[in-house]
Amino acid sequence: MIRALDLGGKTFPVNLIQGPLAGVSCAPFRMLTWQYGRPAYSCTEMISCKTLLHQPDWVQQRFIRKHAEEGPVCFQLASSDPLELAEATRRVTDCGADLVDLNGGCPVKKIRSKGAGSGLLTEPLKLYQLISAMKKNTPQPVSVKIRVEGRNEKFNAELVKVISEAGADFLVVHGRHWTEHYETPCRHEAIQYFVEHLKIPVIGNGDIACLASLKKMLATGCAGVMIGRAGVGQPWLIQQLIAEMEGRVFTRPSLEEVGSIFLRHIEELAALLECEKFAVLQARKVAKYYGRPLSKRGEFCDKVNVCTDLEGLQAICRRYFTDQ
Ligand SMILES: Cc1cc2nc3c(=O)[nH]c(=O)nc-3n(C[C@H](O)[C@H](O)[C@H](O)COP(=O)(O)O)c2cc1C
Repeated sequence: MIRALDLGGKTFPVNLIQGPLAGVSCAPFRMLTWQYGRPAYSCTEMISCKTLLHQPDWVQQRFIRKHAEEGPVCFQLASSDPLELAEATRRVTDCGADLVDLNGGCPVKKIRSKGAGSGLLTEPLKLYQLISAMKKNTPQPVSVKIRVEGRNEKFNAELVKVISEAGADFLVVHGRHWTEHYETPCRHEAIQYFVEHLKIPVIGNGDIACLASLKKMLATGCAGVMIGRAGVGQPWLIQQLIAEMEGRVFTRPSLEEVGSIFLRHIEELAALLECEKFAVLQARKVAKYYGRPLSKRGEFCDKVNVCTDLEGLQAICRRYFTDQ
């Protein structure tokens, strides 16, 4: 059911969330998601605490900039050091974080080898110290986003204990093991385990892209649902899902409008970073998502992949999103 969501003392009008996506979830993406989708909140991409505390200001802007026209934002931090995380939590709170999340699911070797991301799942004491450090350093709701372990009861029971005792306000569960790729379907029963064993709200995440997949996730009993990939290129998705849940007809934006949303995403990114080149490189990353409604999606992506400036990108969009 679509309903209000209470997380650590804050109430959000809906229980659908736009999740973190590295290389995508910057302020321009979140602004579009807010304008068209009105999620409970959107996440930043994972921010390394080392980047936040030690890199020059211009490197950090992409991660920490929150726009005045955005809705609530959850800043997601990655660390395995409680002191560093405490400092970073203070920093993002000062930057306007409405919620703060700890990444406990990243499968990337570089992150795991430092004991962060999904590496934390086998370090319960460290996880406890990290969550406690966040709680002490922000008045905002604190969450952890984890992957699942499968049927290992002892492992799961330990996680439940640590997350509760450390005082996390809620938990986000992506229903895959850290070794699993997207071909492996999300394990709803593993998410349900946490719903049934935790007193705090659990947000279910994995493979939600349509009404049927949303209903399947809500059937786990989770308090809310986080959408990842499906929200890219269709920032209206959350409003579409809400309408469909309520039996209302939703009119998707026209092809032309999708093209102009894509351009706005990239142009706003260029303005935010004061760097057209970087923004156009990012366009290559998101083209496959915005290109979903195109019959010539592959050709469109090929063209974006060799495009080097905004003018070129505008011409590509004119051709593919209007001339069909
Ligand atoms: C390109 C990409 C980047 C991601 N970056 C992050 C990240 O920075 N932090 C995080 O917790 N999860 C990240 N994820 C995982 C998603 O947030 C989400 O948990 C996962 O994609 C499953 O949800 P979905 O099936 O709705 O996409 C990323 C996933 C993708 C595909």
